Amino acid sequence: MNLFISRSKLIAKSILILQLSVFSVTAEQITQSAVAMPDAFSAQAAKSILEQGGNAVDAAITAQFVLAVTLPEAGNIGGGGFMLIHKDGQGDFIDYRETAPNAAHRDMYLDEQDEVIANKSIYGIHASGVPGSVAGMWLAHKKHGTLAWKTLLQPAVTLAEQGFVVPPKLAQQITQYITELKNNDIDVNFGDYFATATANKVFKQPQLATTLKRIRDEGQDGFYKGETANIIAKFIHQHGGIINQDDLKNYTAKSRTPITANWNGYQVLTSPPPSSGGIAILQWLKMYELQKPSTGLVHNSTQYIHLLAEIGKRVFADRAEYLGDPDFYTVPVNALTNIDYLKKRSNDISLTTITSTESINPGLHESEQTTHFSIVDKMGNAVANTTTINLPFGSGVVVEGAGFILNNEMDDFSAKPGVMNVFGAIGGKANEIQPHKRMLSSMTPTILLKNNTVKMVTGSPGGTTIISSVYESILNAVEFNMSADEVVNSPRFHHQLWPKNVIRAHSGLESSVKAQLIKMGYTLDERHFGDMHVIINNAGKLDAASEKTGRGVSSVF
Ligand code: DON
Repeated sequence: MNLFISRSKLIAKSILILQLSVFSVTAEQITQSAVAMPDAFSAQAAKSILEQGGNAVDAAITAQFVLAVTLPEAGNIGGGGFMLIHKDGQGDFIDYRETAPNAAHRDMYLDEQDEVIANKSIYGIHASGVPGSVAGMWLAHKKHGTLAWKTLLQPAVTLAEQGFVVPPKLAQQITQYITELKNNDIDVNFGDYFATATANKVFKQPQLATTLKRIRDEGQDGFYKGETANIIAKFIHQHGGIINQDDLKNYTAKSRTPITANWNGYQVLTSPPPSSGGIAILQWLKMYELQKPSTGLVHNSTQYIHLLAEIGKRVFADRAEYLGDPDFYTVPVNALTNIDYLKKRSNDISLTTITSTESINPGLHESEQTTHFSIVDKMGNAVANTTTINLPFGSGVVVEGAGFILNNEMDDFSAKPGVMNVFGAIGGKANEIQPHKRMLSSMTPTILLKNNTVKMVTGSPGGTTIISSVYESILNAVEFNMSADEVVNSPRFHHQLWPKNVIRAHSGLESSVKAQLIKMGYTLDERHFGDMHVIINNAGKLDAASEKTGRGVSSVF
């Protein structure tokens, strides 16, 4: 089976990551609230929390738990993510990325010949990292919340207990996934829990409701200790997995300092490692400013796409070499985003010819230290939250008795140097597997500020294409003055060094542009990347949009 291709097809049709951006701006400038969410249930719940006087972080926490019920392909308590916050004028980054279990080791996905064992990091009990979502929401609540934790959890409990009406797009995704599992002889229990989810019918999840009630009543201990932890550890042990009670008890969400940088008159507030995305979008945006012709470029023209693809080659060569969990590996953040370095790195770009893939090496030679949704509250606070179980429906394993899906995030580690993961990303030492380490991510929740007031909240699902979706959304809004609706629905494209000269692109690029790119030597791989949910502040008026392909709902109120 060509897993990369078969999963890509599925990815193209799925919302993989939830994007949660709750964004707020200063009171003088923003007096409205806005949500841009992956489904109608989370949009309604987040809006209701804001209307009860909650802030953007409160609304984000409620949305995260609601999505664990109504958006099982990506919403989760069995996965992880990043929440970027701009609150009271200050930035914060809640890192609730999964970690490798204590018994994990570098070669755990290799066979005796040192070859990567197909599917082991993608389906089934061995694919999961220790979940971080509940700890992440608890930390966000402790640091920034204003409403009671129980109030924030209740909407999810109610939706799991009393059920929700299944949107036809979700029912279709579930059927497709069950068929894929069957066609590939993958033996996981996903169908036992989700096969009965039928379009336009009420679907109840009693086991998940019980788990959520324990979280509601006991906080994060309701997941990482006691009954829920017992159920998880026993289930995983029975099926030969390695995550145990100590792994759960020891999981810690972290508050990190967001990356901030000036670009084009804005302050970019973005995701630090273990996200690769913040560094990557800054490299992309800055090299674009350095190398674009003084006459500018036409949006989605051949030259525009080629220039950004050339930059992408360099960005991804650096990503593979230097980026990993900063608690285990010194990531040279400043060196990689330094303007002199980026000048040197991009000076050989030609606007007409493609640089050979093999000639692009990591650029630093000296050793140096190294499912998104958007909400804005009327107090001027903003949250951009991207959360994931990795591929749609994660590992396909549901914890029996606890009713939630486990992630397959271990695939984001580099299983072997130079071997591509499901998103075609490669890596080496910086992202090799070690116990307790966080796997490198492309999730890039980002907030653009002008004079410390929120201008834009953005983020996306889509594996490595997340990075392109995010920097292109910023260019769409800033360079091309698009509305939120235009930002999320314009065709996007992505190049990541390998596969060689392949540009992944949404359908919808002009045929003459496609023909010219092919003539230059590119191969086009048409697919959809993942649904964006964006909010823009236009002189105090909020503009929110969810990409049309998914089940997203946005509103300004
Ligand atoms: O953290 C990451 O980069 C990936 N696990 C994200 C997965 C994803 O976006 C799936 N969606 N297409």
